[in-house]
Amino acid sequence: MLDFLRQEGIDEGLIARIEEYRSSRPVAEEDRLRVPSPKFRYYGREIWQLAITALLSGENILLVGPKATGKNVFAENLSAVFGRPEWDISFYLNTDASTLIGTDTFRNGEVSFRKGPIYACAEAGGFGILDEINMAKNESLAVLHATLDFRRIIDVPGYSRISLDPATRFIATMNYGYAGTRELNEALASRFMVINMPVISGGDLEKLLLQQHPDLKPEAAAQLAALFGEIRKKCESSEISTKALDLRGLLAAVNLVKNGLSLREALNIAIINKSFDEFERTLVEDLVSARIDGALTKDDLFTGKAL
Ligand SMILES: Nc1ncnc2c1ncn2[C@@H]1O[C@H](COP(=O)(O)OP(=O)(O)OP(=O)(O)O)[C@@H](O)[C@H]1O
Ligand SMILES: [Mg+2]
Repeated sequence: MLDFLRQEGIDEGLIARIEEYRSSRPVAEEDRLRVPSPKFRYYGREIWQLAITALLSGENILLVGPKATGKNVFAENLSAVFGRPEWDISFYLNTDASTLIGTDTFRNGEVSFRKGPIYACAEAGGFGILDEINMAKNESLAVLHATLDFRRIIDVPGYSRISLDPATRFIATMNYGYAGTRELNEALASRFMVINMPVISGGDLEKLLLQQHPDLKPEAAAQLAALFGEIRKKCESSEISTKALDLRGLLAAVNLVKNGLSLREALNIAIINKSFDEFERTLVEDLVSARIDGALTKDDLFTGKAL
């Protein structure tokens, strides 16, 4: 992973500090399996630099951005780069103190405390991914205030209060303004450094396509990245909504072609059909037809050589 950071052009000074961080904080044997080895890499030098610097400074970070901007991929990449065990915690409407911190349970006729993920993460010096944090009710998250600010503690009523292991960090993610989400209140937001996640750039998208499909022809990767760029421009000028600007869909379409669909069929179900509005759908169809020869199939897109 550190070699990947070098390829991405991350400052050597930062990389040296990550190495120092890793060697000064060994991971306990029982937590080793939690240190992720990511299948996908996150591309975006500036975002890497912001996040690494914030985490090295002891801050927690909040990744904000539209769908499929790589928030979860990036969070996992960060745990891997820092070599920390990861706890993935999905937030939902009914998330409350007991799901996060822990709760009393009966075991062998005795009451004991069952540790929740935040508690376990804090003891192990892990990275806690607070996924879709704005799905939960702000009131239920008040229990995290002391954990996320300078106090760095967890206070469990009726039990002892513990301090977070110094290596512990929290990385929250959120989509802004989507159905089911809430405004994050100021008190909570103030405990994070907020990083706005951009839609991937054309050059980085080509790299991503070739990383995920090493046998994709480079010219096909360039065409698909250009198509994505055009959809993005239409979104930016508000001619269409962001429904069709779906990187997950584009990546899936490449897979579908590998499995036998023509490129047009694949783009239909992976991207175009996501616009349910007839007018918008036609605009997206036109974009695709202008840029892509829909009859293209596997043999046209891939080199055929197993790499
Ligand atoms: N900058 C990027 N670098 C690498 N991969 C990216 C980038 N942006 C998006 N992706 C890809 O997009 C896909 C979706 O990523 P991920 O699930 O992390 O998105 P997300 O932001 O969490 O989306 P959502 O808000 O819908 O949960 C992955 O396949 C990921 O590799
Ligand atoms: Mg996500």
